[in-house]
Amino acid sequence: MAAATSSRTSSSSRTSSYRAPRDPADATSLVIAAAMGDEPADTILENCSIYSVYTGEILHDMQISIYGDRISYVGHDASHTRGSRTTTVDLEGRRVAPGYADPHIHIDQFVMPAEFAKEALLCGVTSLFSDPIDVVSVAGYRGFEEFLRAGRGLPIRIFQTVPGGLPVDPRFSRRGSGAMLARQRTAVRRNPDVLGMGEVFSWTKVTERDPRTMRSISDMTRQHCIINGHTAGASGKKLAAYVASGIISCHEPINFDQAIERLRLGMWVMIREGSIRRDLEGIIREVISHGPYLERLMFCSDGLDPAAIREFGHIDHCVREAVRLGIHPVDAVTMATRNVFDYYMMGRDLGGIAPGRLADILVMRKGDDSSFRPETVMVGGRTVVSKGRLAVDVPARRMPAWIRRTVRIPRLSASDFEVRARGRATSANTIVLKTEIITGLGTARVVCDGDGRVVPHPDAADVWKVAAFDRIRSGGGSSAIRGRRSVGFLEGLGGDVGAFASTWSFHENDMIVIGSNDAEMAAVANHLTKNNGGVAVSCNGRIVASMPLQFAGIVSTAPFETVLEQFGQVNGAMSDAGCRFERPVLIPLFLPFLALPLVRMTAGGMVHVTGGRRVDPLRYGDA
Ligand SMILES: [Fe+2]
Repeated sequence: MAAATSSRTSSSSRTSSYRAPRDPADATSLVIAAAMGDEPADTILENCSIYSVYTGEILHDMQISIYGDRISYVGHDASHTRGSRTTTVDLEGRRVAPGYADPHIHIDQFVMPAEFAKEALLCGVTSLFSDPIDVVSVAGYRGFEEFLRAGRGLPIRIFQTVPGGLPVDPRFSRRGSGAMLARQRTAVRRNPDVLGMGEVFSWTKVTERDPRTMRSISDMTRQHCIINGHTAGASGKKLAAYVASGIISCHEPINFDQAIERLRLGMWVMIREGSIRRDLEGIIREVISHGPYLERLMFCSDGLDPAAIREFGHIDHCVREAVRLGIHPVDAVTMATRNVFDYYMMGRDLGGIAPGRLADILVMRKGDDSSFRPETVMVGGRTVVSKGRLAVDVPARRMPAWIRRTVRIPRLSASDFEVRARGRATSANTIVLKTEIITGLGTARVVCDGDGRVVPHPDAADVWKVAAFDRIRSGGGSSAIRGRRSVGFLEGLGGDVGAFASTWSFHENDMIVIGSNDAEMAAVANHLTKNNGGVAVSCNGRIVASMPLQFAGIVSTAPFETVLEQFGQVNGAMSDAGCRFERPVLIPLFLPFLALPLVRMTAGGMVHVTGGRRVDPLRYGDA
């Protein structure tokens, strides 16, 4: 990490991308010497109150000595650690906490890691545990390595997990299946900042002992690597079987009953509070009334869109909300810090204010004991946020041209969006949008023209075409697209747009195009292909909003502020067109997501997830 300097660096091998010392024993000896006062501290923080995540106390009138990137002393009198070049800072009673950690976040979303780091640091988040599953879905392990590079050298700790969830459902997808096991193994061995494997869904792959999944799990456990879980909807013997695999965390509980069932089975629970779902309030209210042990509870985001982090904040928001709901402040801070590093078996190095820990330290504003938003942030002893503003340059990394060229669709025309009937079809199976994320199966009236082309019946209000194109497998001319696209019908959008399209979609990354007009759908799809990816909205033949996503067609390379604005414009354009959902961008993102019920749209066709079958878009023989 950029914070580390000279020989005063750390000794652990998996504490992010700072330079490891030549001889760990020497580095440890130096920190011991600094604690004894035989080596002068670089910095002493005086007169502060520490959230002690080890005792549940708030310790007043404390002093903290920092030597290199580590804390060397914590106590009431650090005078013995002071030397002629020691900087002493009087914190005038300010509260001090360890740096917050997000234990599960997909940072391959919206903005590049450097841009995200700037926002996260302002919220006091100094460690991110990343699962870049969409990068692997699009660009395999070559993309994973490229993404690791994009996260290195930043003034924040980014710990990576190698995605463990691909293909999401091998019956309907092959994304990420190529040479996966060997690459997972290599990724972990080769990179000290790769801790293990990301969330393993679907959980049925575990309960049914899918051979590849079993090999992945045993590979990781043999190397003492962490494996993150995903047990949405699992209970009883199925949940017990999943836990028996050695995967002992989950961020999917949406209520306290699900959380406590998992805690009782020895799992760690990450309470999700992010763009996809906000489960904190419901769970925390019952945590307070039931009073379970808090040692295995954490907060995670699972991904944050630009508007969400600006509106709510990040893990600081979770601490703030938990305290507002009645959790003791030290307990809330502990859930955001120590518990995360204990789960990842890194508690010796991170998670608290104590000798030997890396000096990731948050200093709150004077007199502020409720916002939990720091005014000063130190990472490895280096001040990265000062007076609530970034105090360091965050370098943007150049990326190779190949990662910008992942949208491989030949030029499309209106005919690529046609649905043709094999016989007399009078109705269609539709994907019904219940929310931006949740879908159902419906039916809608359709009409055929003389050539067998099917369109929604004029009375079938709010029924739209939806198309999915495999944009990743390279193809030749326009005939090549025929085998890797599907077109069906979508119901419940509520808005009348010519076309709404995205090249980023969980975790298939098919290009999804929704619309009312075949020619306009083709035009928007061609626009996204030409621009190497993004999300765009077209009304009356004109693109009214777009958010380019140049990195693998899933992440923008623009500054955070630009992406924030574009994100608002896309959602706003859809709202202006009458869309009934708050976050329309999520609609194409989730349409192919095979880990969620009920009906999904992929380039291979419409899929009934719980039924495990494909669905023909048209119904034949209805009266
Ligand atoms: Fe996730």
